Amino acid sequence: MYDVWQIRKDFPILQHMVNGRPVAFLDTAASAQKPYQVLDKMRMVYETAYANAHRGSYTFAEEITTEFEAARQTVQKFLNAKEPREIVFTRNATESINLVAATWAMQNLRSGDEILISQAEHHANLVPWQNICEITGAKLVVFPIADDGSYIKEEYEKHLNEHTKLVAITAMSNVLGTVFPIKEMAKKAHDAGAEILVDACQYAVHNKIDVQDWDCDFLAFSGHKTYGPTGIGALYGKAEIMENMPPYQFGGDMIDHVTYQHTSFADIPARFEAGTAASVQAIGMAEGLKYMLALGMENIEAHEAELTHYATMRLNEVPHLTQVGTAKNKGGVFSFDISGIHPQDLAFVLNKENVAVRTGHHCAEPLVNRLGYTSLARASLGLYSTKEDIDALVTALLKAERFFREE
Ligand code: ALA
Repeated sequence: MYDVWQIRKDFPILQHMVNGRPVAFLDTAASAQKPYQVLDKMRMVYETAYANAHRGSYTFAEEITTEFEAARQTVQKFLNAKEPREIVFTRNATESINLVAATWAMQNLRSGDEILISQAEHHANLVPWQNICEITGAKLVVFPIADDGSYIKEEYEKHLNEHTKLVAITAMSNVLGTVFPIKEMAKKAHDAGAEILVDACQYAVHNKIDVQDWDCDFLAFSGHKTYGPTGIGALYGKAEIMENMPPYQFGGDMIDHVTYQHTSFADIPARFEAGTAASVQAIGMAEGLKYMLALGMENIEAHEAELTHYATMRLNEVPHLTQVGTAKNKGGVFSFDISGIHPQDLAFVLNKENVAVRTGHHCAEPLVNRLGYTSLARASLGLYSTKEDIDALVTALLKAERFFREE
């Protein structure tokens, strides 16, 4: 049985009062809060087993190396990847995508080739491709989504052709909540002769991932969104593809042998992990993933599906509010506009009511513009969210309505 109130006790910040009252934290899409299990583990490593990973044969160094490589295995398990060497630790999902752009794309793309993305991508899965297209002469093709945020199969298939070398697609939009059918899209991409990269940084927070079942070539996600620390993320890549990719950054730990004249490079994944690893962050990230796995991804999904339904209904009670992103297949991300109230003003009132939401373009400016807005408010759920959080949001929105309309 999923006891959300018991689960919340694991998150110290959810017990922390602001102005004497608890906060309804509805911004997990931007970054998730951290359970004791993550915080305690990181502290324990620093206090009892810290040294530079991969660089010593004394006890501390061996212990941290073992923990760091165990963290890689946890990410492997979380994604159901075939082998640990298919997991590269990066700074975040953005760096994972930049790694593929700087290595695989630089190596494989030529003028006339195409990269296909959707209108729903956030900047992390758009700007690196724009940049790589400028360098290589490849073309960035953007396929439309529906006005309600739904995926349009025909549009995807229409824009996929023999020039497409890469499909780069979000598994869940951070603005709309729309879930994309990755398995089906990967099959189509492969039939067209393209590789597929999945931006899972939003999806990984809420749903079970299976890279083997999806048959995706690359997948990126971040530790800070999956209840772990900032400064760490992961890239999954099929071993047979990554083995043929050149290094990303150059320096220590990514080498095999070095002379003053020449360097040979390490095998994957070390080839892509130059410099001292963010080992404690990786261990913390793994602890966040273990926390999710212990709760059960299907239980987290069921809890959030019920809340998504509840939030959709309750937000409809707010006069002048338009929900932006109402696809049938969507997760717990709710962008909205209240006509006549700027999201920034709204955020000001909500903050006074201890309700934490994000406002702005959510790192997806072209998408927000495509939907007809320059800025939106967004509430998003995590595994610790409750109906009471949503009630607090709706109460605060109604208060904001009164405040601004009566002014
Ligand atoms: N991409 C993150 C968000 O959705 C930062 O807020």
